[in-house]
Amino acid sequence: MNPFPYINNELYCEDVPVSRLAVEFGTPLWIYSKNFLLHQLRQIQTAFADVDPVLCYSVKANSNLSILKTMAEAGSSFDVVSGGELYRVKAAGADTTKVVFAGVGKTDDEIRFALESKILMFDVESEGELDAISAIAGEMGVVAPVALRLNPDIDAKTHSKTTTGKKGNKFGMDIERFQELAAKVLHDPNLKLTGIHMHLGSPILTTDPYAAAGRKAIDVVQGLRAAGHEINWINLGGGFGISYRQDEGLPASAYAEVIVPAVKEAGCRLALEPGRFICGNSGILVGKVVYTKQEGGKTFVIQDAAMNDLVRPAMYDSFHRIWPVKPSVAMPENLEGEISGCDKVDIVGPVCESGDTFAKDRYFPEVQRGDLVAIFSAGAYGTAMSSNYNSRPRGCEVLVDGGKVTVIRRRESYADLIRHELLD
Ligand code: LLP
Repeated sequence: MNPFPYINNELYCEDVPVSRLAVEFGTPLWIYSKNFLLHQLRQIQTAFADVDPVLCYSVKANSNLSILKTMAEAGSSFDVVSGGELYRVKAAGADTTKVVFAGVGKTDDEIRFALESKILMFDVESEGELDAISAIAGEMGVVAPVALRLNPDIDAKTHSKTTTGKKGNKFGMDIERFQELAAKVLHDPNLKLTGIHMHLGSPILTTDPYAAAGRKAIDVVQGLRAAGHEINWINLGGGFGISYRQDEGLPASAYAEVIVPAVKEAGCRLALEPGRFICGNSGILVGKVVYTKQEGGKTFVIQDAAMNDLVRPAMYDSFHRIWPVKPSVAMPENLEGEISGCDKVDIVGPVCESGDTFAKDRYFPEVQRGDLVAIFSAGAYGTAMSSNYNSRPRGCEVLVDGGKVTVIRRRESYADLIRHELLD
């Protein structure tokens, strides 16, 4: 399914012309395809159906309430990493009893909130955290379900800022500490060890790291059971890659092929925490060309979306496909090489940093002031990482379902920018 097709040389989201939405709601504008979100979730549900998984959509990827509600209604649960994310899950009307809670710095208040919300389990990342959960559960008179997060020392070959499963990363614990803490849980009446957790990095475009993690999980689960633990869960985190460039993303079934047999062999239930795979290619960011200029031997296309909206290119040098909404040249499959009928340009935003650049030396059709451009694969870690830098109000978000359009976050105003500030 292509949620953003060009029809008669004009970009659509499902059945709605993107230009119509830009006129009605202004730019920068985030447009999400509801049916593609559901399609991606279903792809994972189907691929892993054999082991009846609990799919915990990773809220950090896109935490808009309507997206959470869409996920909950389609049978997804949630992975949260803060009290704020848990609050959002509740506000979306979702059940919290299948929620998993990861993160290296859970505060006492967040732990209490999660215990009150009767979550499925904490992914515990250190001894200090284990002690805090035990103490708070004891005060509350409840038993806290915990999974220990193993750092499996597997190199998933992601960007250095998003790798998590290698020795020396801040996440999880190595196998020796893991075993020490597991023994400690056994004698703690406030805690119950129910599973193991690993998250290898993001995005991962091969299945090998998951195959290695699956093998490790079998060993660890067998060891824990031999030591007297009743282990029911293997949580392999998120990280499934998507196509940012062409079609480099794998189908969910490829990951399932290596994960499902391991989970079966271990005799466990599976939890997964996919974020990007579900929402990444469900969303685009639409900007409008403010100016073009030629300087220093280069052509710059300056449009009104910026690094405060989508920080990924500035932060990770990420590649995003970008193309006009009504192009004079049809969008080719490959946007990385020379494209006939196009000139080499830098596509930038208005923020006062050279890093506010979405594409450098990219072949791009000629555009004029007022033309719309679409930045693709912006649904994950777009709005979720956006800011008001340069005092730029955040854009509007709309959800498209066939021909139906719903505003799911209104555009911020100047008044919103100063709402929480006080004059002394
Ligand atoms: N579970 C855990 C424990 C995680 O740390 C993450 C992502 C996920 C699940 C979801 O990963 P996903 O399925 O979305 O790949 N801002 C970066 C990505 C950071 C990922 C952080 N952790 C980006 O824009 O590429």
